[in-house]
Amino acid sequence: MARGGPLIIASNRGPVGFRRGSAGAIEASRGAGGLVTALRALVDGNDVTWVASAMGEVEREIAGSGRRTEESASGSAFSLRLVAHDAEVYRRFYGVIANPVLWFVQHGLWDLKQDPGADLGPAWREGYVEANRTLAAAVVEELDRLPDAPVFVQDYHLYLVPALVRAARPEARIAHFTHIPRVGPDAWAVLPRDIGAAIHEGLLACDSVGFHTEQWRSAFVDCCGTLLGRGADAERVSHANPIAVDAEEFDALAAGDGVRERRDALAAGRPEILVLRVDRADPSKNAVRGFEAFGRLLERAPALHGRVGLLALLDPSREEIPEYVDYRAAIERAADEVNERFARPDWTPVSLVVRDDFLASIAAYLEYDVLLVNPVMDGLNLVAKEAPLVNDRDGVLVLSREAGAFEELAEWVVPVDPLDVEGQAAALERAIGVAGAERRSWLDGIRRHVRMHDMDAWADRELRELDARAPRQGAGATMQP
Ligand code: G6P
Repeated sequence: MARGGPLIIASNRGPVGFRRGSAGAIEASRGAGGLVTALRALVDGNDVTWVASAMGEVEREIAGSGRRTEESASGSAFSLRLVAHDAEVYRRFYGVIANPVLWFVQHGLWDLKQDPGADLGPAWREGYVEANRTLAAAVVEELDRLPDAPVFVQDYHLYLVPALVRAARPEARIAHFTHIPRVGPDAWAVLPRDIGAAIHEGLLACDSVGFHTEQWRSAFVDCCGTLLGRGADAERVSHANPIAVDAEEFDALAAGDGVRERRDALAAGRPEILVLRVDRADPSKNAVRGFEAFGRLLERAPALHGRVGLLALLDPSREEIPEYVDYRAAIERAADEVNERFARPDWTPVSLVVRDDFLASIAAYLEYDVLLVNPVMDGLNLVAKEAPLVNDRDGVLVLSREAGAFEELAEWVVPVDPLDVEGQAAALERAIGVAGAERRSWLDGIRRHVRMHDMDAWADRELRELDARAPRQGAGATMQP
């Protein structure tokens, strides 16, 4: 993508996180989350300025000292501009609107019994709108320094940034990518109409709007039609382009010492058949039904007792939000329940680890026989692409039909419906029984696809879509796809 050219990326979470280490010095670490994982690859080979929110005290401190130069995993430099928000603005933006409201609505998790409460209007105006304004102002300042740079705005936290940047710099070239599912107008109708309208107007201020799948794109077009009477505009600016995985990075990590040590430890205590799940501890990931399904599997297949184990590696997520606290407790109860029913002195059927340890996830990717990915809804699901890439045991992927990645990988997986617990138990049994040659050819199929549709291809497509609709000055027709 625009190799070497300047590029401004704006997202809520930055590509690296900062915290204070035990010796008191500030340490940088890999930013968490699917979006950041995927987009870090863009930093290599591009002159990137990344605008992101400062999260936590250490980052707020850093934000005060302006733009700083950071290094990507492979050593290329990029500029990072962290933006500090007022703490209460940020709480309302992230902890009230972006996650409990937008994330839940867009994953079909909004509960109509739930009262959005008197807090919704103020949280929208004084939280979401305000935080978007602050980030948009920082983007505009960066554009003044880099007037030719295209602006790539990321995800559901920043739906209003494109319109705010457009108002300040009408000539800017702006793209947005939504990394989570899109739902149709009926699902958005639970929110006050002005909120839905502002979100869709915000996106229509872009030259190019991207989604992982055709299904999410057409839901967006329907919403723009119903809420704004602008279905044709939405059709014109939008495209589907499923995000990819940095295969080289995973190859290198899988061969590294950190993974080797963790893999050795895992291999020493693993069951004969290892079923794995790796997720953030998020209600959309459907871990509770996954444990229930595993319990049903043990009920229907006594021959597997003592031989099979489910390892769930869950990354703690959004722990300041009450719905996440409750869901985490439900996860722990569901795992305990299976163990209470089936464990024997020599065998614990479910191992649940809730910890942020990315290298341990990769070690487990190498070792699984069956990978369970059963989200209620998921924009894409990167685990479904990452894990098969490095797996060493001809592992079989059991994949939800509601994950965006299903559109790409369907022919090489055992499909499941996320609310059908009995069906998931049957799918696990089927996956365990898939014969050797078929296991290998499914895994190879996924790998070929993931390696061919890599991050470069994703990023090049994003730039081509932008160039096609908003040509660079002087680039003219040569940039048409
Ligand atoms: C997941 C989603 C991304 C989203 C991110 C935010 O990884 O796939 O679309 O941007 O969560 O996570 P955070 O931890 O910043 O709330």
